[in-house]
Amino acid sequence: MKPVVAIDGHAGSGKGTMARMLASYLGFAHLDSGGLYRIAAYMQLNLSQFQGSPPENLVSLLSKMSMQDLLEMQRQISEDVLRSDIMSIAASSMSKLPEVRNVITKFIREFAADPGRNFLGSVIDGRDIGSVAVPNAVCKIFLTAEPQIRAKRRFKTLKAKNSSVTFEEICQNIIARDQQDSSRDTAPLTLNDDYIIINTSNETIEESFEKIVKIICDSVINR
Ligand code: C5P
Repeated sequence: MKPVVAIDGHAGSGKGTMARMLASYLGFAHLDSGGLYRIAAYMQLNLSQFQGSPPENLVSLLSKMSMQDLLEMQRQISEDVLRSDIMSIAASSMSKLPEVRNVITKFIREFAADPGRNFLGSVIDGRDIGSVAVPNAVCKIFLTAEPQIRAKRRFKTLKAKNSSVTFEEICQNIIARDQQDSSRDTAPLTLNDDYIIINTSNETIEESFEKIVKIICDSVINR
């Protein structure tokens, strides 16, 4: 299997940005596994055949879809809708359901097993990549930062897009998701000894990036 780098961590810790930077630098494919939970949440909330129906119906459709179908679906949904705070909380709620996790974990494993001919490996970000989905990842990073700092970063991004959301709302959303992601029964956000923790509270993204590249190189060399 081609090497997999797992970037797990807290909501708003910059996992997505970091994973994209690493993938581009290493010549690896990138998968944002949270995006898959967001698509599932979007489908449940917005497609008329699933509104008000039990999630089993959605799971049954998802299990017949390919990763390509799912990514095609993603292309049809606006990024702002998919990344909205409502969808974040909805994705976090969907991700508590074991049936939903099973089907999405299957997609993640397929991607890890075959990231594409042009890629040397993959970088996958999420909550349970190193702990459950791909436990044999060559390198497992846990990205975090103080909740207030994560909220401040998100507030800055949203303000730049003229959003009217308040700092307090963002803070509450981040704290609620941390709590929901860490306390669920199935595949909670957990830290075991395999992980290297990177706390970005007092670092720029470039500083954390340099640290992580060094860690990945060491892990691959010592494999
Ligand atoms: O990473 P992102 O914030 O887009 O993820 C949205 C939600 O999907 C998270 O709050 C989490 O509940 C869920 N998720 C998960 N397992 C993953 C990735 C995301 O449970 N591997």
